[in-house]
Amino acid sequence: MSNLPYVVGNWKMNGTRALLTEARSIDRASGRYPKVQVALAPPFTLIHRLQEAVQNIGVGGQDCHAEESGAFTGDIAAPMLKDAGADFTIVGHSERRSMHGETDEMVKAKAESALAAGLTVIVCVGETEAERDAGQAETVVSGQVENSVPRSEDAPARLSVAYEPVWAIGTGRVPSVGDVAAMHRSIRAKLVEIYGDAGTEVRILYGGSVKAENAAELLGASEVGGALVGGASLSAESFIAIVGAASPDQQE
Ligand code: 13P
Repeated sequence: MSNLPYVVGNWKMNGTRALLTEARSIDRASGRYPKVQVALAPPFTLIHRLQEAVQNIGVGGQDCHAEESGAFTGDIAAPMLKDAGADFTIVGHSERRSMHGETDEMVKAKAESALAAGLTVIVCVGETEAERDAGQAETVVSGQVENSVPRSEDAPARLSVAYEPVWAIGTGRVPSVGDVAAMHRSIRAKLVEIYGDAGTEVRILYGGSVKAENAAELLGASEVGGALVGGASLSAESFIAIVGAASPDQQE
């Protein structure tokens, strides 16, 4: 996979056609940052329209089912995402893990299904506040990586891991840069243990209250290969400021 910084907006359950205006602005402005890979994950209902509306950015889903088709009312399969114009999907977001009971094993099956459909995949991991307070953060996250990442041969080249501490999502609280760097180093070590040298290719994104104001500092931390952005990706102004902060040109 590319080693450009990867900045991905997760719109969660936000957005109707009116929000395509922001997507178009994000797409236009992203053209000014060729050294950053930019993508948006809108709700399923907007994937097709958004993909038709943009030229410079990737478009993806926020989840997929592990099966290719079948009697799974309300679910969306990875080949359907691909057919709708997606080029990647997020899986294992903490909101899916906590509100839909998704286990590491389910997340891994989804990730493998996404790769089989020709998508790239972002696997999310992250500890709760109680786990961090108990000194368990690295152990918990390491276990999630071990059990959630896909194992197919092409996996490391098409995988990103997003570290999103649950307590930092939508709260305005962020870990210290030192804690982010330590966790990313620990994830890197686990990826190398799993994939060997190929584990060094996997981009590790940070997510959780990334804003224009803190993006440069978080993105500058060791082993941080990009950002997964929730709230701040809903407006072109705030999202593009984060993209700008990720640009190597900007940091020189
Ligand atoms: P916020 O940026 O709104 O904290 O959300 C982070 C997130 O969950 C992205 O997937």
